[in-house]
Amino acid sequence: MKSSISITSILAIAAFVAGTPVDHGSLAKRAAAPPFNTALTNWVNSETTYAKNGVLANISPSGASAGSVQAAPSTSNPDYRYHWVRDAGITLHEVSGWLNATSDSSAAAVYNKKLADYATFSRTIQTVSSPSGLGTAKFYMDGTAYTGPWCNPQRDGAAMRAVSLISYARYLKSQGKDVTQYYDGKSPTSSVIKADLEYVANNWNADSQGCDIWEEVRGNHFYTRMIQRRAMIEGAQFANQMGDPGAAAWYNTQATAITNGMDAFWSGSIILPTINYNGGVSKPSNIDAQVFLAVLHASLEDGFYTVDSDRVLATIVQHIAKFNSMYAINTATTTTIASTSVPVGPALGRYPEDTYNGYESGQQGNPWTLITSGMAECHYRLISTWSKNGKIVVTQAVANFLNQLTSLYGITFSNSYSVGSTYGSGSATFNEILANTMLGGDRYMARVARHTDANGKMWEEWNLSTGFGQGAPDLTWSYGAHVSAATSRAAASKIVYGA
Ligand SMILES: *[C@@H]1O[C@H](CO)[C@@H](O)[C@H](O)[C@H]1NC(C)=O
Ligand SMILES: *[C@@H]1O[C@H](CO)[C@@H](O)[C@H](O)[C@H]1NC(C)=O
Repeated sequence: MKSSISITSILAIAAFVAGTPVDHGSLAKRAAAPPFNTALTNWVNSETTYAKNGVLANISPSGASAGSVQAAPSTSNPDYRYHWVRDAGITLHEVSGWLNATSDSSAAAVYNKKLADYATFSRTIQTVSSPSGLGTAKFYMDGTAYTGPWCNPQRDGAAMRAVSLISYARYLKSQGKDVTQYYDGKSPTSSVIKADLEYVANNWNADSQGCDIWEEVRGNHFYTRMIQRRAMIEGAQFANQMGDPGAAAWYNTQATAITNGMDAFWSGSIILPTINYNGGVSKPSNIDAQVFLAVLHASLEDGFYTVDSDRVLATIVQHIAKFNSMYAINTATTTTIASTSVPVGPALGRYPEDTYNGYESGQQGNPWTLITSGMAECHYRLISTWSKNGKIVVTQAVANFLNQLTSLYGITFSNSYSVGSTYGSGSATFNEILANTMLGGDRYMARVARHTDANGKMWEEWNLSTGFGQGAPDLTWSYGAHVSAATSRAAASKIVYGA
């Protein structure tokens, strides 16, 4: 920080001397990083290295088919050594982002091989006999279907897989590679991406028997609809790229229909996780992390259920308020990282009525790693979104979100904001809102640090009273969620602190 501040002021002086206008707006953007920032940033970075390796180790593990993704290595208590279509799709979408971003050719070769194998494995499991076809939730690691009793179909899986493989195929196309093996417009079922897009287009509105991402509720689910919408929008763009305009039009028609139906999820005060409920766990609170996970995985920067939307913010505020008072471990307000005291926010769970403790059902559920990382990421994405918008319109929902930063964590504002006002990029209020949102996000990041093993190992859950890792160790999704949050944090940090 020190050197970047002095370089900036030297440049400012030089510009002044030369008679060039000085950009006070961008200089004023830089908030001072708090004292704990370096300790937390160092932890985030070293954990990111550990987590990337954790993700890669769970793709094509030894003894399994190439391209299969185990949810976690553990085979008993709990038995998670299966390829879940949704979890794998989320994971490989993340890896596809690493491939896009890396300039290290040996890392690129590793990511590329994992993605190519995943595409091949995905095609295999599309074609084997399975309980619900492309809606089947999970497979053995050798590519045969799991046929025991399970909550099938889960229609978000094919959509997430399509989103991840479209990202990869577009990368390959940008490298001048032929990708017709992944998308063959001449035959609706003979290639992996095309088959998934056709499945989503034909089944998103088939019935309300589909299971949610937690595999416990039948109905129509916010997460599922949002990822289906993304698959149809990106599928249409990709179909056009692949010279298949008829299919593109058909996917766009579905995307519009999905979009037009999303209002049904708005209760007037919260985004409902499920509509047309058809059995399974009952959630009278209507609070469920699948809603903001949907925003992270499926929103498209088009203003539709993006993280800055009033409905999403209202839902996030209620999630935080509820879980803050639910777990004994949430009374801790700081943690120690590299001998530095770092403030923490609450550990967050899936939904308040959860009774799964990582091994079995029947007790109060625990907070989850990937959900707490996800909430950190919501804050970081909010900063990037507001910055891209160039302004913050303080609606009641925005004010409630900001007020919660003060009431829950004592983060104070010296520039007051008022409902109905708009604060432009570069204004003191705009800058302070961004800086304080960064502090809010970092409280969740630090919470994750507090409960991560000293060597970097992550678990699915943390015990609600002891804080120790519980449930599946080395959960792929926990690692992927950390890397994703860390990537968003780095982008937000550049905006707020200039580094
Ligand atoms: C990766 O790059 C491709 C090609 O530019 C792009 O279409 C895709 O959205 C990118 N994916 C991610 C996850 O960044
Ligand atoms: C938390 O840990 C305690 C002590 O090991 C255990 O008895 C309890 O069942 C755990 N609670 C949950 C919800 O997992």
